Amino acid sequence: MRLVLVSNRLPVNLQGKPTIGGLATGLASFLEDWKIQGRPYVWIGWPGQNVPEKDEAEIEAKLWNGSQTIPVFLKTKTFDLYYEGFCNRTIWPLFHYFPSYTDYSNDTFEAYKEVNRVFAKKIIQNHKQGDWIWIHDYHLFLVPQMIREAIPDAKISFFLHIPFPTFEIYRLLPKQIRNSILEGVLGSDLIGFHTQLYSQYFLRSILRCLGLENQRGIVSYKERNIKVGSFPMGIDYEKFRKQAESKECIKKVNKIKNNKQNLKIIISVDRLDYSKGVLQRLNAFDEFIRNNPEWKEKCQLLLIVVPSRTNVPSYQAMKQSIDEKVGNINGKYGNLNWTPILYQYKGLSFEDLVPLYKSADAILITPFRDGMNLVAKEYVACQTDGKGVLILSEMAGAASELVESIPINPNDIEETAIAIKQALEMPEEEKISRNLLMQNRIQSYNVNVWANDIRKETDKIVGSQIQGQTEKLNDVSKDIVSLLEGKESYLFLDYDGTLREFEIQPEKAVPNETILFLLNELCKIPFLHTCIISGRDKNFLEEHFSKLPVTLVAEHGSWIRRQEDSQWEKQQISLIRWKEDILKRLKVYQTRIPGSFIEEKEFSLVWHYRNADPDIGANAAKEILDEISQISSNQNFLVQPGKKIIEVREIGVGKGKAALSVLGSHLNSQIIAIGDDVTDEDLFSSLPSQSITIKVGSEDTHAKYRIKDTKEVLHFLSELIHKNKR
Ligand code: UDP
Ligand code: G6P
Repeated sequence: MRLVLVSNRLPVNLQGKPTIGGLATGLASFLEDWKIQGRPYVWIGWPGQNVPEKDEAEIEAKLWNGSQTIPVFLKTKTFDLYYEGFCNRTIWPLFHYFPSYTDYSNDTFEAYKEVNRVFAKKIIQNHKQGDWIWIHDYHLFLVPQMIREAIPDAKISFFLHIPFPTFEIYRLLPKQIRNSILEGVLGSDLIGFHTQLYSQYFLRSILRCLGLENQRGIVSYKERNIKVGSFPMGIDYEKFRKQAESKECIKKVNKIKNNKQNLKIIISVDRLDYSKGVLQRLNAFDEFIRNNPEWKEKCQLLLIVVPSRTNVPSYQAMKQSIDEKVGNINGKYGNLNWTPILYQYKGLSFEDLVPLYKSADAILITPFRDGMNLVAKEYVACQTDGKGVLILSEMAGAASELVESIPINPNDIEETAIAIKQALEMPEEEKISRNLLMQNRIQSYNVNVWANDIRKETDKIVGSQIQGQTEKLNDVSKDIVSLLEGKESYLFLDYDGTLREFEIQPEKAVPNETILFLLNELCKIPFLHTCIISGRDKNFLEEHFSKLPVTLVAEHGSWIRRQEDSQWEKQQISLIRWKEDILKRLKVYQTRIPGSFIEEKEFSLVWHYRNADPDIGANAAKEILDEISQISSNQNFLVQPGKKIIEVREIGVGKGKAALSVLGSHLNSQIIAIGDDVTDEDLFSSLPSQSITIKVGSEDTHAKYRIKDTKEVLHFLSELIHKNKR
């Protein structure tokens, strides 16, 4: 299997310098391991600068030969609108909870779409059967669906390296944009996030924006199942460890320590980004010195700030504030013998970063929000003597794994100042034991385990997809053609979601001309007996289908009106004692949940929430299910969730039992049953084993075959008519 990595930036720029940032460093490490195993790969991305058209071919060849990377060339103006605009002035600030820094503009979103199309085109052009396409980060949300449209069976994973915000924040995006992003990324087979919370927020947003529910992280969308899950990104632990133990590193550490004499070293390492809380960190250091004068001339903060997104105004403003604050602190406390803060506005290479990590007595990591923060993990990995202390913001994704750090809230300057003191004064054994626990964790869930987890989970979901596809309509048609051929046959058709698509108000979902025409034609096949088997009440079915020579089954099997008869037969004699009580309970929810309503039938009650707020509706449905299940144990009813409904009905009734009654002694005939909902599962599992059972949609099923949607059902019926007409 060839790996196709896709990210906005390639891992190295045209000058051969490595790209800074967690995405590039993390993936580059994983790729090393992939290469060692001799596995094929390519990396598709932007080469870090705009290239004149005349040089494109030469650069493409150079990159391919040098590093098996494929550049995506972008026009300067479109790139600026996309990168500086939509990516870094809309998504980045919003997803890091800085709505006041967020711009909403259609122009930048148009450019974003355009660039995503260019990326998709490049991936499609280079695609080989069996590739694993792994798309990274917020720059490329729309790419998965664009690829899916061109290559329906492509294997696609998507990983988001930044936080996914709560719905209250996400909904600030204009509707068309927020829906496009979700629809775009749902083209993937697997969507991964750093933490459980980000996955939950994403699932909530797709419920609220697109009305899509999930079953333990599996979302059914456009006839496919998509896995949404959390995969906390790791680091190449052994690489950092090995480097930290190397002679070269020890030499550098000794040099740093000699230079610093008796100073305790606190470090701070980030890209210059307002989300990283650098200014608050400086304020906390200021407060620490002010409150603890005994630490004057005994410690030093080494502040490494890596230039980033220098054309975006909010980044420029941040740089200026940091410069001023550093000058202010050094001016206030410094003297000829002591500079409290050493400040470097430049990135460090891996070889210089590791000794810095190793020699630091503490690291201050204080983001307001951070998807993960790999620096925290790298620092812990480099504590070969276990003596460095990690001070970590609880808003970083890494905080949920690195629980032995000193946690701080970056908004709480005083708490952070106290944390600095605690770190510098922490007893040695405590430092060692905290580090040991964190190191074990980082070592075991390293970057390779992380990537392999994503790969395995992607394979699993794709496997289930393929299984579904092999049982699709084409095969069914063939079977049926060979099966029917004049033999006595029964066709059971569910109504809502099978013959007719759903409407927000069920009374509007009446059969259209096509449905009536097809049913009429089916009735002309002399050896075929057609039965509409539905949850609808008998009045509805009678109103629309009584003129056709079909058998009708109403209320999920409570009533049968046989083809040759105009009378309805009740399928059980019951007093239905439960109905009044349940109705009372459901009415409470009907009042409480706007848009929800109760459908009352003779043997059942249905609470519908298709029209309610999706989130509130789904939560109330869970409550109802819970409440009613608790009182159902010794009563004669069954409570069952369906598609945006909760149905309560008499025990002993069911589509399966009704279908067997319709079949009577004809159990050996040809049988076809088509349905989309939970109640049809009872039908599928009750029918004789030779039956052709067909599930509409992609959810779990007992049926043998799968069909996409109502449109395909109608197409299938017309095929059936065509092939069997006399
Ligand atoms: N990094 C680096 N040189 C530097 C500073 C940082 O190579 O001078 C690397 C660091 O090793 C880490 C990455 O940049 O792997 C930063 O990732 P992180 O997740 O901490 O933050 P991001 O920049 O992705 O927001
Ligand atoms: C974060 C993002 C990455 C990005 C990196 C550097 O880590 O998640 O996607 O590459 O920052 O940002 P830049 O805009 O310079 O690529």
